[in-house]
Amino acid sequence: MTKDLRINPDRMLGAFNQLALIGATGDGGVNRPTFSEAHLAARQWFREQIEASGLEFHTDGAGNHSAVIPVVARERSDRSNLRHDNGIASSQKTLLATTPTLLLGSHLDSVPSGGRFDGALGVMAAFEVLRTIKDAGIKLKFNLEAIDFTDEEGTLVGLLGSAALAGRLSRQALQSPRGGRPALVEGMKRAGLSEESMLSAARPKDSLAGYLELHIEQGKRLERAKIDVGIVSAIVGIASYRLSFIGRADHAGSTTMEDRLDASLGASAFTLAAREVVMKDFPNCVVNAGKMEFEPGAFNIVPARVDLALEFRSPDEEEFKRLDSVLMERAKEEAERFGLELGIEFLGRHSPSLMDTKVQHTFADVCNDLGLSHMSLASGAGHDGQSFDGLCPVGMIFVPSADGASHSPREFTAWPDCVNGANVLLQTVLRLAG
Ligand code: GLV
Ligand code: MN
Ligand code: MN
Repeated sequence: MTKDLRINPDRMLGAFNQLALIGATGDGGVNRPTFSEAHLAARQWFREQIEASGLEFHTDGAGNHSAVIPVVARERSDRSNLRHDNGIASSQKTLLATTPTLLLGSHLDSVPSGGRFDGALGVMAAFEVLRTIKDAGIKLKFNLEAIDFTDEEGTLVGLLGSAALAGRLSRQALQSPRGGRPALVEGMKRAGLSEESMLSAARPKDSLAGYLELHIEQGKRLERAKIDVGIVSAIVGIASYRLSFIGRADHAGSTTMEDRLDASLGASAFTLAAREVVMKDFPNCVVNAGKMEFEPGAFNIVPARVDLALEFRSPDEEEFKRLDSVLMERAKEEAERFGLELGIEFLGRHSPSLMDTKVQHTFADVCNDLGLSHMSLASGAGHDGQSFDGLCPVGMIFVPSADGASHSPREFTAWPDCVNGANVLLQTVLRLAG
């Protein structure tokens, strides 16, 4: 009975723990920014795990790594009783293009000094779901693919691999990535990729049957409510800008306070103002000044320039646009107030996206059948599912994050919760593709 099928928790934990050693920071976290040595090592490890499992391995021009159960190859292998665990690259290309594929995935990259669950759990759970289905010999109506997407976290671009696969990666995004063009170019080179290969990773829309992801919540709602599973209703939109407040370098001792054109004042005043505006007028949104770089940057020089890394998020498109213009207007006002010039560099935007209703209902039915409590919630974090908005049905589930900690080595989810999430993913795949 496929209804009784469950993933192998020990096998998934073994893989998860091995992965957490790659780029381990010694405090429970991992440091695997996109295309770093640790990130590439994690991907190599994943490739070896896939090949050892007898699943088919696939990679593309964006560096996405996948385990695949292709419908046709399995039928062929059933007939001939042959294994197809290697040498599939060319036949699979045709396959993936002609038979719709249900993607399950997440990402193996991390933020700098991040946690070991963000992304890694989703990839390991997806991989475990495929292994379980393969071992059970179940036939599905779609190709099934467990994918590790390149640069979900945005240390370089953000949702890079998924946007490339969805055919939504623009040359512009590669020209002015938020992590800086030199870091992107150097990273792609290290990974054996290029701008052209990135753009070639697009798959036809009709080849996508859907995208499902398991992730940790990265907030406290599930833990507080003592709920097992969160069914995601929507993912926030995310915009990033570099704001440059430009003044004039002067002697920090002999220049009077009145005479200074101090770039730090504009940047600081804007940061405080942005917080106030959002808290007062945009209660569903958040804003973050994640980094400020001072030039020349010395104790005894009035700052001539501050580059501020700005990010803001909203679950609603209209509100998102309104917040964008309010923040840009406010940045201009604060710059003017301190006699500064303002440079605005737009670094990319992912629209808010709604999750598929049918998939949400299926997740809920599966939770009910598994005796798991569930609630609907919106995601304040960005996820690769946003790249597939409008292209195919997208669904996500969350499992509780201890103390809501994330993007930090403190990130933790109890293993039984991870196993629950993987079983919900497995049973949902069987219902949608069985
Ligand atoms: C990714 O985790 C993001 O939301 O920044
Ligand atoms: Mn993530
Ligand atoms: Mn993250």
